[in-house]
Amino acid sequence: MIPSIIALAICAVIAPINRVQSSPAAAPESAVKSSAVIAAAAPTALPSKSTGRLPALGQAFSILAEDNIPPSDINENKTLAAANQFVSLGLKDVGYEYVNIDDCWSRLSRDTSTKRIIPDSTKFPNGINTVASKIHDLGLKMGIYSDAGTATCAGYPGSLGFEAIDAATFSEWGIDYLKYDNCNVPRNWTDVTPIPGNDWYSLLGRSTEPPLLLKPTQFSFPYAYGELLTSGTGAHECPTWSYITSIININIAHLSSINFFAHNDMDMMEIGNGALTIQEQRTHFAAWIMFKSPILLGTDLGKLNSTQLAIIKNKELLAFHQDDTIGTPAAPFTARSGAPVTSPPEFYSGKSSKGTHVFIINTSASESTKQFTFANVPGLRAGGTFKVHDMWTGQDLSGTHTSSFSINVAAHDTAAFLITPV
Ligand SMILES: *[C@@H]1O[C@H](CO)[C@@H](O)[C@H](O)[C@H]1NC(C)=O
Ligand SMILES: *[C@@H]1O[C@H](CO)[C@@H](O)[C@H](O)[C@H]1NC(C)=O
Ligand SMILES: *[C@@H]1O[C@H](CO)[C@@H](O)[C@H](O)[C@H]1NC(C)=O
Ligand SMILES: *[C@@H]1O[C@H](CO)[C@@H](O)[C@H](O)[C@H]1NC(C)=O
Repeated sequence: MIPSIIALAICAVIAPINRVQSSPAAAPESAVKSSAVIAAAAPTALPSKSTGRLPALGQAFSILAEDNIPPSDINENKTLAAANQFVSLGLKDVGYEYVNIDDCWSRLSRDTSTKRIIPDSTKFPNGINTVASKIHDLGLKMGIYSDAGTATCAGYPGSLGFEAIDAATFSEWGIDYLKYDNCNVPRNWTDVTPIPGNDWYSLLGRSTEPPLLLKPTQFSFPYAYGELLTSGTGAHECPTWSYITSIININIAHLSSINFFAHNDMDMMEIGNGALTIQEQRTHFAAWIMFKSPILLGTDLGKLNSTQLAIIKNKELLAFHQDDTIGTPAAPFTARSGAPVTSPPEFYSGKSSKGTHVFIINTSASESTKQFTFANVPGLRAGGTFKVHDMWTGQDLSGTHTSSFSINVAAHDTAAFLITPV
């Protein structure tokens, strides 16, 4: 358990719909897997496909986002409507592929004889497999939700003790992605059989076809988890500037674990929710991009305006996130000697197959221009001359630049550049 993260459950005031029993952040210490155990248990063979190699891009009917459809309202029509919006809004064209349902999709009890989880026939009258098949027909993938405990956070059946049955069921339905929550894990629970073996991870993550991309949520999973997995490094989702900056700060401590097949999950994308300014929405997206977090759009896609759509469809930022040759994220660097120290840091650099990128977040209330020295950017040679390309606009800035570079960044906005030696 990571107390600093739990303390950041700042948006718990937005009451989750239908959530019963303990909050996931309150999972008992004894139920928490130690990172040593998990790391030693990580699989050694790569999965048969590239599932999980790059951070996921998709949508999810989130629990806490205030403008969103509560998960208890999900049904076949809304799920398929989201899938169709992936296509009609051009999201599919830029790489978004996972259409995910969250808690509340099943009946409250398992089938008494087969012990399988049964879809709620009011919400999914044609079954989950039909929905998955229609989503596949659109060239997209479907995600579902379960829980590592006895019940989900909203009180529906959890997978504890039924992992093999659930893995087989999800596989049979053609499910591609599993959000695996951590509510209602018994206080005395410990995983006795490490991987490889017969525990939930190998069952749900590796022996299904198609291979499931697992998203274990909450905080009992380590940051360097390994293949297929994302790890919860977010707080409770919340559409505020302090939420975004707190998540950035949390994740800065765990950047070294990020690479292909290992992505820290910064939680739901809040663009479209709350009262974030458009600059804050750009920073939100840019930060999740920089740190290669899964990006799951947690809003009603139909309500996004053209400015918001342009942010989430920005091809150059998405190309950094989905880079196929470099899996590491951007990381903070010292902009110049005497640069002020801020929280979170303002200057980040990272590599992609295109070259060296610099991201600058304006976090402060100061009106100073943001300036960095090229020689301070890891990988750029001192004394060089550089071309600076704006990733947001897709345009090169005029002229060439030597020694240092300055730019005005709007309040809470993030500038994003590709820098190439001339
Ligand atoms: C889906 O939409 C159709 C057509 O409007 C309607 O008949 C049906 O009841 C809806 N299904 C659900 C589960 O809401
Ligand atoms: C945990 O507690 C439950 C309920 O008290 C009990 O049924 C179960 O056997 C216990 N499990 C272990 C592993 O001790
Ligand atoms: C979209 O909404 C944002 C606020 O979230 C606003 O700043 C922006 O101007 C809007 N864009 C359009 C085209 O209406
Ligand atoms: C940065 O944002 C602050 C508000 O947080 C604003 O006052 C300031 O003018 C901005 N700085 C620049 C250089 O745009």
